[in-house]
Amino acid sequence: MCGIVGYVGPQSALDVVVAGLRRLEYRGYDSAGVAVLADGGMAAAKKSGKLVNLEKELVDRPLPSGSTGIGHTRWATHGGPTDANAHPHLDNAGRVAVVHNGIIENFAELRAELAGRGHGLESETDTEVVAHLLAEEFSGCADLAESMRLVCRRLEGAFTLVAVHADEPDVVVGARRNSPLVVGVGDGEAFLASDVAAFIEHTRAAVELGQDQVVELRRDGVTVTGFDGRPAEVRSYHVDWDVSAAEKGGYDYFMLKEIAEQPKAVADTLLGRIDASGSLSLDEVRIPARVLKEVDKVVVVACGTAFHAGMIAKYAIEHWTRIPCEVELASEFRYRDPILDARTLVVAISQSGETMDTLMALRHARDQGARVLAICNTNGSTIPRESDAVLYTHAGPEVAVASTKAFLTQLVACYLVALYLAQVRGTKWADEIRAVVRDLARIPGEVERVLETMEPVRELARSLAAKDTVLFLGRHVGYPVALEGALKLKELAYMHAEGFAAGELKHGPIALIEEDLPVVVVVPSPRGRSVLYDKIVSNIQEIRARGARTIVIAEEGDEAVVPYADHLIRVPVTPTLLQPLVATVPLQVFACELATARGNEVDQPRNLAKSVTVE
Ligand code: F6R
Repeated sequence: MCGIVGYVGPQSALDVVVAGLRRLEYRGYDSAGVAVLADGGMAAAKKSGKLVNLEKELVDRPLPSGSTGIGHTRWATHGGPTDANAHPHLDNAGRVAVVHNGIIENFAELRAELAGRGHGLESETDTEVVAHLLAEEFSGCADLAESMRLVCRRLEGAFTLVAVHADEPDVVVGARRNSPLVVGVGDGEAFLASDVAAFIEHTRAAVELGQDQVVELRRDGVTVTGFDGRPAEVRSYHVDWDVSAAEKGGYDYFMLKEIAEQPKAVADTLLGRIDASGSLSLDEVRIPARVLKEVDKVVVVACGTAFHAGMIAKYAIEHWTRIPCEVELASEFRYRDPILDARTLVVAISQSGETMDTLMALRHARDQGARVLAICNTNGSTIPRESDAVLYTHAGPEVAVASTKAFLTQLVACYLVALYLAQVRGTKWADEIRAVVRDLARIPGEVERVLETMEPVRELARSLAAKDTVLFLGRHVGYPVALEGALKLKELAYMHAEGFAAGELKHGPIALIEEDLPVVVVVPSPRGRSVLYDKIVSNIQEIRARGARTIVIAEEGDEAVVPYADHLIRVPVTPTLLQPLVATVPLQVFACELATARGNEVDQPRNLAKSVTVE
């Protein structure tokens, strides 16, 4: 949440910062602002609303050009999305500017203290106190990095801070605690951002910042220290995402592009997983086999769409490994005193690798002695860094707020983890594992075929634009798919959308069915467990008898459902457990088209942000 950019170097800081903010706008879009150091002073501009409002302001009232600057795109926490609450925040003398992501929990106390010393604070934010504290510290030590260290030691909560001071015109200082911040090192220039997408057009050389560290950026390099001032080890890495991956590439929305990228994302995530001996090898899983053999419980923790991937993982893990698997919303996990020990394997799934709920859940798990394996899409992010092992999904940057390609690759990663556990523990033979991997290898082609047949789904979505409610039903792995379809519709189309386990219908939700209510039903393969299939076909008949308009997602060749489907969406034949990889795709397209038909902003739905770095 909130996107932050900082720059020092030979280019126009304003241009670099605004371009970076454009790439980070998915993180929050309530307001945006910039500050540049020029002519010995500070110049700042900020505007409520989307970045475009700030860009207009910069045309109407241009800022002087400078080579050091910072910027921010906001997802409001403290204080509404007004001009006054937009970042950067300045001290009373206008010499220091600061941008912030996170929540400073003791801000009220600090604010009262500052007011007592005569500071006038103008916004309702928690951030503004930092500008004032930095100004006070700087007046003592004349060193912005040292001022930042001193201030950070007084702050409670989670924060990324980036600041500039007019008296140090070639320096940008950043700090992080429990909130993302990465450094980009170019030739005679340096960058700070919440996410590498902000600077990959300039450099691929990145530096990870650890917990409670302060970084000082100068043109000729970066210096990292702990909040205590001790030099920190600098860990560099190469960013292999290409620039075009962070752009729309001719699509109207990132979401459309990301839906279309799914075949490649799935294929890339599968790449190189079978070694020369024919065994499944997951390079990034560095938990010894002897530890995995001892695991007696798997607990998956995740949020939102990633949680739905976890629900599907449970079916695969239990079926292939016979290890009991629980799936828990990360935000609930540590509050219920879960039973964990050294034989528990916790799987934390997160696209961004920064979701605070998931991070806190994994920390709790590690504190109790459990091993944590992260499934993550973002190299260098906090969740994989704090886990014992990581399996990276190779979806490339996901910019649209609604997760699509990350979900499919999370599923692939979950299947791989399940198969790997089965291999290590001997619950599946090598040839059985290779057979599933071969089935997975066919998925990119099958997703491609689904994407080629989506026009009727789009047409259907447009025809439902005036509806208030859509329900989604599924059984077995189709149940999380139904939940995911409903989540996509809620967040994008702002409609009442609910997913149910089809068997639960008769226990209450069937009362919602009324004439012409659209109900999407995810039908499992008739070639799988016939009892499952028969039951869901009965469920379709029950709702149809009560007037529902049935939208049935069924496998090619399944003719038995035809009489009960007002609309039929075909998906390719897949093994039962892998069906979510194809069945989810029409639901993504459906939600995207319905949202467009309702005039909604597909990539930036209201009230949301891509990376949820507050609890
Ligand atoms: C929905 C969506 C969210 C995320 C959730 C977890 O489309 O994108 O529900 O799945 O916020 O985010 P990550 O995976 O980054 O931890």
